[in-house]
Amino acid sequence: MQFTIAFIASAAALTASALPQTTPIATGDAFGVITIRSGSPVQNSAIQAAHNGLLVNAKSQNASCDAASNFATFYINEEKEMHLLESKTSYRTQTVYVDQSGMGQGLIGYLTGAQPLPRNGQKQGWEIVDGELKFLGTGLQACPGSIDGGWSLWLQGLDKPGFLDNCTSMYQYGFSSEHY
Ligand SMILES: *[C@@H]1O[C@H](CO)[C@@H](O)[C@H](O)[C@H]1NC(C)=O
Ligand SMILES: *[C@@H]1O[C@H](CO)[C@@H](O)[C@H](O)[C@H]1NC(C)=O
Repeated sequence: MQFTIAFIASAAALTASALPQTTPIATGDAFGVITIRSGSPVQNSAIQAAHNGLLVNAKSQNASCDAASNFATFYINEEKEMHLLESKTSYRTQTVYVDQSGMGQGLIGYLTGAQPLPRNGQKQGWEIVDGELKFLGTGLQACPGSIDGGWSLWLQGLDKPGFLDNCTSMYQYGFSSEHY
């Protein structure tokens, strides 16, 4: 993954006051997402998809990819739905949704194929705003203790989403990616 390594190397010197200027990502373009939170374990981590959720820092996402990548590739369509690009030969659709209800607490998950949206789930509202991935204007946070050393991703809003401790908010930047 030369591309990822080059991107991370160039992002390594960044601080919150000098955020990355990435290539604009248009509707339908494939992109990966990198998280930026200086001085935290989620600085320069690529977002992964596994076990119906999004995470960073897992040793492997174990996804069935053509390329041996350890980050997920997405695109956002005109309905502002965000889909995972699983592999060039797979036609399975995976759609990322959020649940901001009292039960969901900002949960981010994804549905495969015709799986129904959970009762309080929302899937339309993903946008890249000034390079940053948001859902209806809300950014993401990461919480430690997930599978394989990973940090699970949630929408911002609660200090302890899913009753998890030590969550940290961060920036999350899209970067153009053809690797999936
Ligand atoms: C990936 O697979 C290994 C071996 O089966 C497992 O230990 C690990 O938890 C998996 N990681 C994820 C993120 O599913
Ligand atoms: C949260 O931070 C506290 C204090 O540093 C630590 O004792 C605890 O193990 C951490 N919990 C998790 C899930 O990382």
